[in-house]
Formats: sequence, C-alpha cells, structure tokens
Amino acid sequence: DWTMSAFRGEAIDAIRRQVGSGRVLCGLSGGVDSAVAAVLIHEAIGDALTCVFVDHGLLRGGEAEEVVTLFRDHYNIPLVHVEAQELFLQALEGVEDPEVKRKTIGRLFIETFEEEAKKIAADGRGAPQFLAQGTLYPDVIESVSFSGGPSVTIKSHHNVGGLPERMNMKLVEPLRELFKDEVRALGRELGLPEAFVGRHPFPGPGLAIRCPGGITREKLEILRKADAIYLDEIRKAGLYDVIWQAFAVLLPVRTVGVMGDGRSYDHVCALRAVTSTDGMTADFYPFDMAFLGRAATRIINEVRGVNRVVYDVTSKPPGTIEWE
Ligand code: XMP
Repeated sequence: DWTMSAFRGEAIDAIRRQVGSGRVLCGLSGGVDSAVAAVLIHEAIGDALTCVFVDHGLLRGGEAEEVVTLFRDHYNIPLVHVEAQELFLQALEGVEDPEVKRKTIGRLFIETFEEEAKKIAADGRGAPQFLAQGTLYPDVIESVSFSGGPSVTIKSHHNVGGLPERMNMKLVEPLRELFKDEVRALGRELGLPEAFVGRHPFPGPGLAIRCPGGITREKLEILRKADAIYLDEIRKAGLYDVIWQAFAVLLPVRTVGVMGDGRSYDHVCALRAVTSTDGMTADFYPFDMAFLGRAATRIINEVRGVNRVVYDVTSKPPGTIEWE
C-alpha cells in the first residue's frame, strides 16, 4: 500500500524531528494502537524508546505473554514488563461501580507507570522527556466534541491521564490522524503479525468492565474460558474479521438449570458482537440462530459456573458497546 509506506516515512521523519536526541517512553496496552505506535517510534529512534507494559491481570488468556514475546524477542524493543496483577485485583476487591472501577484502574496504572518511569530515568541514560500514545483520530474528535462529558471517563485509562504534565513530559502521538483501519494497514506495513493487527479493540480496563458487579479471580477465570470459546466459534465460522468487537460478559446473576438428574444454580453469560467503523456507533451482529446455539452449548458444557447464555441485541446508540 503506497499511501501507508509514504505515511510511514513521513511519520518517522516527524518523530525524529520532534524527539531529536531525547528519550521516549511508551505504555503498551496489549492492543493494536499502542503496538503500532511503539514499532513506528522504534523504527524512528531505536533504543531511545523504552516500552512499559503494566500487566493489570485483566487481559484475556495468553495476551500478556504474547505482548512480551512480540516486543522483546521479535522486535528486540526494550520492554519493562510490570507484573501488577495482585495490586490491581486487591484494589478492585468489592468495587462494583463501573466508574469507580475505571478510576481505580486508571489511578493504579498511572502510579505504577510513574514508578517505572522513575526507575528508567535513573538508568544512567537520562530521563525520558517524551511519552508516546497510540491516540487515534476518533479519540481526538471524541474528546473534543464531548469535552467534559462521558469520553473523559471512557478514555480515563486509555491515555495516561495527568502523567505527561506531572512528569514534565511531552506527548508523541504519531497516529493522531489515522482511523482504526488505517492503523491496521500501517501495522501490516510495519510487519506486525496478522493475528495482532487484525485483533478486535479491547478496552483499557479490560475484563473488569465485562464482569458487572464485584470482580473475583474466579469470575475472571470463568469469563476468560467463555470468551475464548465464543471467539473460537466466531473464527471457525469465518466471522472474526467482519465483526468490530465480540466478547462475553459474565453477569452477576445466577439462574436455575438442570444438570443430569440434578439442579444447577450458576451464572448467566451474555454474548456481545457488533459491527462498527470507529466504535462511536455500532450495530449488533445478526448471527444466525444455529451459530448462537452452537456457541451457547459449548460454553455451558465446557465452562463450569455458567448454565445459561443470552445474546445482546442492543445497538449503539442507545446502548454502548461495553456493558459498563
Ligand atoms: P463504548 O462501550 O463506550 O465503547 O461504546 C466504545 C469503544 O471504546 C472501548 N472502551 C474503552 N476503551 N477504556 C478504553 O481504553 C475504557 O474505559 C473504555 N470503555 C470502552 C470499547 O471497548 C469500544 O471499543
């Protein structure tokens, strides 16, 4: 794609002009945007970039390992992997309100990131003056058009809040003019693996907002299993790439079922899938009933703790994509 290769060249020049001989820190989330930003910046300034991956324990199964392997082993990009799972889960214990969840996660994220940034600043190579973010064009528009409104909290984890000012850092945002499909094209241009580039968007607060009510280790495990089966069925049906986002939600509601000769009393799992181009509006995906039946049967048979599956047929607006 010639336009993307032109963009790549120009973006690299712009990063070099902005950063000069300075150092850049980049927080990786496990998602496409921060990954593409990091690889692009690495191409521009090499080891003057250090990546920090704060593992909050709210990712899907295997994702943290994938990020570490990709960046450290494949791209050879300096990466600090902060294993903060305990810290986050403890702070979230008993927290039920979605906004309190987001704020708790956002605050811990900033504190953890800041602590790592200080260590990096003390490594003898000078303090980083720049903070990289994978901000996209729709993020820019959303925060302008809803300034002070919901986007402020929606994105509270997405960017690192007041960190740039607190640490006296300037922002590097090489994807500010791009839409999601363009970021994916750029990721391919930069040689990121297809499985990574084509991945559905994933919210900063992760599984915490797909587990309405209080979060426990056990609930997260149930949710990870159900989600993996659902996505496996979607891939087998060849639908992964036509869907913008698909995920399972573990409801804090238990219902009665039959299991063998006995009675079960387990959680309800809701399935969500939407089409969209930028996440600002979305339509629920019209699966055929045979698909839904297959996914439901597998989840109930294979995931202990779930005995009922429902499908969410709400579009955005009036719903949001996530349940919290
Ligand atoms: P909603 O649920 O607002 O989501 O329709 C729109 C898009 O944003 C993602 N999302 C978030 N991303 N931090 C994020 O980084 C958040 O707190 C957050 N909440 C929602 C959501 O997955 C969808 O892609």
